[in-house]
Amino acid sequence: MTLSFRRLPRRLVVVARKGGVGKTTTAAQLAMALAQIFGIEVLLVDQDPQANASARVGVAEGEAPRTLNDVYLWVLQHPEFGIHHAIHPTTWPGVSVVVAEEALKFRESEGDHLMDLRLRLAFERSAAELAERFGAVVIDTLPGTGALLRNAILGATDLLVVTDPEPDGLKGADRAIKAAQSIKATQHPDLNILGILVNGYDASLGEHQRCVADLVAAHGDLVWEPWVPHRADVLTARGLQVPVQRIKANGARDYVRKLNIHARRIGAALDLQENK
Ligand SMILES: Nc1ncnc2c1ncn2[C@@H]1O[C@H](COP(=O)(O)OP(=O)(O)OP(=O)(O)O)[C@@H](O)[C@H]1O
Ligand SMILES: [Mg+2]
Repeated sequence: MTLSFRRLPRRLVVVARKGGVGKTTTAAQLAMALAQIFGIEVLLVDQDPQANASARVGVAEGEAPRTLNDVYLWVLQHPEFGIHHAIHPTTWPGVSVVVAEEALKFRESEGDHLMDLRLRLAFERSAAELAERFGAVVIDTLPGTGALLRNAILGATDLLVVTDPEPDGLKGADRAIKAAQSIKATQHPDLNILGILVNGYDASLGEHQRCVADLVAAHGDLVWEPWVPHRADVLTARGLQVPVQRIKANGARDYVRKLNIHARRIGAALDLQENK
């Protein structure tokens, strides 16, 4: 299968081996930060059958007429079908979504050479529609190593690892980087492995300080500063299904300020031009 990505917006995949490290929070918040800072529309693709990213941006289960599961099922059967057929609006400014649903879990074990290229094919089919409307795509993934994750990485142009500053998270970040390097070496030479973002950092915890020091010792410049802090306002925003930007509190402002530093760095890597 020969595919051209020339006209497609760049696509950032957010990955981690360990669950609960903040992939979904980071992916959704980065999507909105990229939209705001670079004055673009961003498409958030929810690759996790838990559909947390879909809920995070305010789309209720069953609300979107088509889901990513439909995309996986139809893209190989209908030559005209692309991911743009499943785009749904959100309440977050500048962010649209392709929602997940629980049935997506049945796609997780359907891996082989062709099946792993379904998301990439769905993007390619929609190249014109996506290029016209979106400046970037952000893909949220599920923890693990199955077919959905391989599809997400093979469909992306750029990859960001998220970890928490805990020993298990570090092990997961290490494995995620090695897995990405292996996919780049064998199947996807154009993949840019951007770096490792530390989320949920608490400066008062000695263990967090030790863990980030170990992470930097192991991966050097791949580890992105500043560490994104653990802030209760992030949980408040989640409960209200609003972006953290909407919470008027010091903790929320601190989180957003640090995340925006990463968003600017990602935008530069994706060749986006900042709004002046
Ligand atoms: N920086 C933060 N400060 C405080 N809470 C956070 C932060 N980042 C994430 N959380 C909270 O931690 C929990 C897990 O976050 P999230 O759902 O983003 O992780 P995940 O890696 O996507 O999980 P999963 O592996 O289940 O997909 C959520 O309740 C989220 O609101
Ligand atoms: Mg998640």
